[in-house]
Amino acid sequence: MKHTPWWQTAVFYQIYPRSFADGNGDGIGDFAGLIDKLDYLQDLGIDAIWLSPHYASPQFDCGYDIADYLSPAEEYGTLDEFKRFLDGAHARGIRIILDLVLNHTSDQHQWFIDSRSSRDHPKRDWYIWRDGRDGGPPNNWHAAFSDSAWEYDAATGQYYYHYFFKEQPDLNWRNPEVKRAMFDAARFWLDLGVDGFRLDAIGTLFEDPTLADHTAEMSQRDLFRELRDSFPSQTDTEHARYLAEQFRRLIEKQVDQPGVHELMRELRALVDEYDDRVLVGETDEISYYGDGDNELHLTFNFPLMRAARLTPAWILANQAERLAALPPGAWPCNTLGNHDSPRVLSRYADGRDPDALARLHLALMLTLRGTPFLYNGEEIGMGDWPLADIGQFRDNLGVWRYQMIMAEADEGRIDALDVNEALALANNFSRDKGRTPMQWRNAPNGGFTPAGVAPWLPVHPNYAQGVNVADQANDPGSMLNFYRAMLRLRRRTPALILGDFEPLNAPADCLVFLRRTKAQRCLVALNFSEEPQTLDLGGVARFARSLWKAEEQGGGGAGEMIDLSRLMLTPFGIYIGELDE
Ligand code: GLC
Repeated sequence: MKHTPWWQTAVFYQIYPRSFADGNGDGIGDFAGLIDKLDYLQDLGIDAIWLSPHYASPQFDCGYDIADYLSPAEEYGTLDEFKRFLDGAHARGIRIILDLVLNHTSDQHQWFIDSRSSRDHPKRDWYIWRDGRDGGPPNNWHAAFSDSAWEYDAATGQYYYHYFFKEQPDLNWRNPEVKRAMFDAARFWLDLGVDGFRLDAIGTLFEDPTLADHTAEMSQRDLFRELRDSFPSQTDTEHARYLAEQFRRLIEKQVDQPGVHELMRELRALVDEYDDRVLVGETDEISYYGDGDNELHLTFNFPLMRAARLTPAWILANQAERLAALPPGAWPCNTLGNHDSPRVLSRYADGRDPDALARLHLALMLTLRGTPFLYNGEEIGMGDWPLADIGQFRDNLGVWRYQMIMAEADEGRIDALDVNEALALANNFSRDKGRTPMQWRNAPNGGFTPAGVAPWLPVHPNYAQGVNVADQANDPGSMLNFYRAMLRLRRRTPALILGDFEPLNAPADCLVFLRRTKAQRCLVALNFSEEPQTLDLGGVARFARSLWKAEEQGGGGAGEMIDLSRLMLTPFGIYIGELDE
């Protein structure tokens, strides 16, 4: 029988190291803190960790601007401490994948310092340098995190290309030396024993070599203004389509260009030299699964999370499209939140009961077909924490948005705003609100860092209202214990991990489906409304043996037979049962 790879059965948990646990009391998370929390993670019941960048970095983009791929950030600890973390995780049966940022380095990386030092330096061609055009940049391309994608460097009189901040110059992946150096870095960590990589922003690795102008009619700023800081989800008006087309044209020459697939195949071959490692791509594009076995093992189903509300219709349409598009043998991968997005609890609540919805959304993640990725803090119900002062922002994307708003107000393009309005808009855009420190106890700074020490980002004050690990650990009704129980249920229920996905007819507010292996059939019924629902699923089977009922945390009542012609769901209720064959 074909052996099931670990990453198909695993639940991943993303750790943002700066915010997870501060072991040395300097206000910044570190390896000592991570080591200290390994028992917590084992107890939680996750199988694998995706660690956001832990490398040396000036932190202009919170670690996604790497200054040395072979050394950890000093404030996180030494390489030896990293190894202790890795070994400690492995000893507990937890795998670790690292974040690999291939597209760009920090402008403080020695490679770039050398590259910009002169036009003749052997590293010049490691980055993308071009002459200007008519006294301006080489073309009209935008950067995702600023205006022009080109930065003029007076010392050598040329421009360099950056898809993100100008502090993150793009590497030239057409240069074989770049590939060699980066592949060596990948090997360095694989040799150390890490279990794979989450590949950052792979779509941006290559650009159209002709540097042809983009053909969008709108500038990025105009687009942002139109979108009013929200995402145009679930709207299908002519104008929304126009904006989507403008966005497509804006980045058309800079994203998903020829060359990426070949590179992914080469990276896959490298990783396949090692046993049992995994590559997960930060991309929507299913095409990066290749033929199902020769590019990435997983790519995120981001389209699922791009909604103001997760409705059964939205989820079903997403699953139908996504599962049908997978190449043979490819395995899906679902997520609702990460360090770039608002927190799940805040994002989808929409004025309804956030706690109940968060539980429902976890049930969804753990019962859909595919590897789930969770984000640290969601297991205790952490929500977004918008910052009160622009001086507290650490995400330069938020700062840039704030400056843009202020400039627009100054130019009279938008009504003058009071400071609070401008801050609220900047907070909408900024990723800091979902990156605040983990809340461990009801103690100053949520127990993340000692009293009197300023954490690198403020701690959400609701640690004092029970949103913390220690208070929830012994409360059977807590979010934390809900996560633990749901993770245990998944682990012991093969059909929830490996089964086919078969949607069933149900009222619009309910999502009902089967997960089926040869040996087991599970029924999942999720009520997305605040009204109780009674479903008649008698056509599927007469009875189900309950594995989970919303009112019975911990899978209590397991074994109870339920009459499926009258399956009752509480508001936002969850039912998971096993059908007799
Ligand atoms: C990815 C990361 C994001 C980062 C960007 C540039 O999208 O998830 O945090 O800012 O790449 O590296």
